[in-house]
Amino acid sequence: MNQAKLHRLISQKGKNDQELFDQRLATNLTLIQKQFFSLYSEDHHEKHFQKLLKLLPKLFLERPEVLREQDLIRLQSGNWYQSEKLVGMQLYVEHFNKDLKGLQDKIPYFKKLGVNFLHLMPITTRPKGENDGGYAVNNYLEVDKKYGSKDDLLQLTTAFRKNGIYLMLDFVVNHTSNEFSWAKKAKKGDKKYQGYYYIYEDFTIPAEFEKILPEVFPETSPGNFTYIPEMEKWVMTVFNSYQWDLNYTNPEVFLEMLTNLVKLTDMGVDVVRFDALAFLWKKIGTISQNLPEAHNLISLFRMCMQVVAPGSILLAEAIVAPTDIVKYFGKEEKEGNECEVAYNASLMALLWNSIATKKTQLLYKSLMNVPSKPKDCTWINYIRCHDDIGLGYENHLIQELGWNPEMHRKFLLDYYCQRLDWTPAMGMLFMYNPKTGDGRITGSAASLLGLEKAIKSKDENLLEESVRKIIMLHGITLAFGGIPLIYAGDEIGTLNDYSFQNDTSKKGDSRWVNRPMHDWETISNLNDKVSPQSRIFHALQKLIKIRKQNEVFADRNNLELYHTGNDHVFSFERAQGDQSLLVICNFDENAQVIDSNWIKKLGYFSKGEPLDLVSDEKVILNSALLEVKPYQMLWLMKS
Ligand code: GLC
Repeated sequence: MNQAKLHRLISQKGKNDQELFDQRLATNLTLIQKQFFSLYSEDHHEKHFQKLLKLLPKLFLERPEVLREQDLIRLQSGNWYQSEKLVGMQLYVEHFNKDLKGLQDKIPYFKKLGVNFLHLMPITTRPKGENDGGYAVNNYLEVDKKYGSKDDLLQLTTAFRKNGIYLMLDFVVNHTSNEFSWAKKAKKGDKKYQGYYYIYEDFTIPAEFEKILPEVFPETSPGNFTYIPEMEKWVMTVFNSYQWDLNYTNPEVFLEMLTNLVKLTDMGVDVVRFDALAFLWKKIGTISQNLPEAHNLISLFRMCMQVVAPGSILLAEAIVAPTDIVKYFGKEEKEGNECEVAYNASLMALLWNSIATKKTQLLYKSLMNVPSKPKDCTWINYIRCHDDIGLGYENHLIQELGWNPEMHRKFLLDYYCQRLDWTPAMGMLFMYNPKTGDGRITGSAASLLGLEKAIKSKDENLLEESVRKIIMLHGITLAFGGIPLIYAGDEIGTLNDYSFQNDTSKKGDSRWVNRPMHDWETISNLNDKVSPQSRIFHALQKLIKIRKQNEVFADRNNLELYHTGNDHVFSFERAQGDQSLLVICNFDENAQVIDSNWIKKLGYFSKGEPLDLVSDEKVILNSALLEVKPYQMLWLMKS
């Protein structure tokens, strides 16, 4: 947070409610007004703007007292989300420990591992049958009975606050389900609510859109429009046919969704995951992703939150080109006024590329090609989540390496999706299009990294390699700068779960292969220390502890990449004050050597042989070369 902003915020303490609100509004009003009228013309929408000005104080006053106090504390403590102390986990409540109460019972487990930031997958009401894992929302604020009640959620957030655990929940801001009350009314012919969606009498306008709009789920939900017989009209459904895209060109939609957003944070949500936010604005003749209006709209949401719920922040779920992702942190006057956090989807996809190719050139090239992020923002670093792995690398960078982008993507699909005999990976294809050869990858981290094959074939070497790969990839996300997010189950190397193939509402969507039940039996046996599951758990537990003890892991935009001269090796340094951390990873199955002179020049040997924090062994040089074992990760600390 910049100094001026901090100053303004500190001076908010001690003011009464009215003064506090007035001050926050005054600080943000110019930008709010600007973004509002950039989307909704001043000539026609002054009345809506006045409506917004009435809504804000109402939302402010309705915010629970305890959260209003927390807002003030957060604002004073600076960028809490960049802290080294944060370590996250993403989980499905029903797969973890039944329901919200069950989840609360597991607080000691999170503490044991060191996790204090939780992303719970959607828990709101959704259609029975297909519902995209809850991303088809029937109501933004109603807890689905299978998870418990709203009271359970409030109890959980209170317990989380007491235990210093941050909560992230989704806000599916781009679409509702076809069973949402607005959609139901629209189906009955209510014109007001038909105006909440992109609804058309015939296919003329949809046909214009379709000329350019890409398909998100070409296999299961081709096209971007669905015919609704009840109203004899077409509705835009960019994701699944039962997910209706909200029409934000209508300011009423914005006002209603702002209310839903703030009410969600009022339940004690610290980070709101803005789902599929790249799609928020649609325009004929464009791919309707990442449009400038979408950025203005996100910023408008953000600035309104700054007035009524400034302690809660936004995460951009923008799985788009690397150069487009950073734009969700806000550019120019919007810098710091869009999302504070974004998924580092580029790093994630590049790490998988490096595992398959055993090389790191594309990783370096791509990371160096991404503009740096604003200093008050941070990443969520992760290797797996509930979704697929898309191969969104920049073609020109693949070409610079002398590779053919199309052939290269085919190789990655072959490598990960069991289309080659020799590969250790056991992933599955997702949304594969045989006509174009395009596709994405699903599978659990452990299965993609060879553990499933190693266990099935009782191959000790493969098992060893796979455990090392798993620890190395997690280690990178823990050290890279940002909030590391472990996908539940990955901390014990959970394998693919094929049971979705027997469920008609799931079998068309192979992302379910990586949405397993949490394996508490394995967790009850973690003391053995020799099983792969136990080794992974204890290694992560240890790395998390190291991260939390050293401020150098906090994200201060202090990451420097180093080329070691060996294409199998990835190395970066994090420096903060007197402390520095050098990370060196070998992506190859053979030991690799690197010239140690640059490490010496950086000062890592100035007090004798440095300790590798991962293995607790000293790094001993027998020559000018440093040997890095297969899939070894070194963390060298200098202070
Ligand atoms: C996000 C979610 C994904 C969902 C989509 C539509 O990308 O991560 O699981 O299918 O949004 O809501």
